[in-house]
Amino acid sequence: MMNNQDEFTVDAAYIEALKRAKPFVELMMYNRCAIREIETKLQVLDEEFSVRADRNPIQTIKSRVKKPASIVEKLQRRGYDVSVENMQEHLTDIAGVRVICSFVEDIYKLSELLLSQDDIKVVEIKDYIKNPKPNGYRSLHLILEIPIFLSHEKKHMKVEVQFRTIAMDFWASLEHQLKYKKKIENPERIATELKYCADVITEVDMRMQDIRYMIDEVQKTHT
Ligand code: GTP
Ligand code: MG
Repeated sequence: MMNNQDEFTVDAAYIEALKRAKPFVELMMYNRCAIREIETKLQVLDEEFSVRADRNPIQTIKSRVKKPASIVEKLQRRGYDVSVENMQEHLTDIAGVRVICSFVEDIYKLSELLLSQDDIKVVEIKDYIKNPKPNGYRSLHLILEIPIFLSHEKKHMKVEVQFRTIAMDFWASLEHQLKYKKKIENPERIATELKYCADVITEVDMRMQDIRYMIDEVQKTHT
């Protein structure tokens, strides 16, 4: 049976847990704000492009904040204690923005424009398009630092931005799904098949871009 003393203990523990959760809740809010800032910058560039060049370089933007379970898993995997300070200091992908483009050329143009903005600091660039992973994974990864303006302070937040073509995104989603399926009977066969598809996709991305150049040329000579 619960007496007053027990009720008090339960309440105190609950309040204590909430207090400890507050810095975490705030950190996630800062990350969502940082995502908004990056998304807006990308949308502005896409909008400008659509007026000047009559086409949209961005197909879709998919953003997410990392799930608490993945945050804990990554900190532990890297040998850090689970704390809000360690999340802030050691994880650069709590805020993630994935930019899906039609053409490889657009990926480099957009990333260059984003990187040249004077409120953005570049933390890291990994070009898995020029240097694909051995499994065939291709994408351009940027870790950026961006300020967010709160009522009483300015915070610098890190955001991981991944640029891919539609085909690279299709490939990565399939590869990601298979990675998490246990009891796959012939993983080597699937890995070989995926690598083959990655090579075909690279070729198709190049050819599609060439077609676009040809269309652009025709348009130039007729206007
Ligand atoms: P983590 O993989 O996040 O621990 O860090 P890292 O330093 O190895 O970063 P990297 O830039 O290599 O990858 C970060 C993210 O890119 C991953 O979380 C995935 O979203 C994506 N990614 C990287 N490699 C692959 C891959 O081989 N397949 C797929 N499907 N996605 C990948
Ligand atoms: Mg990795």
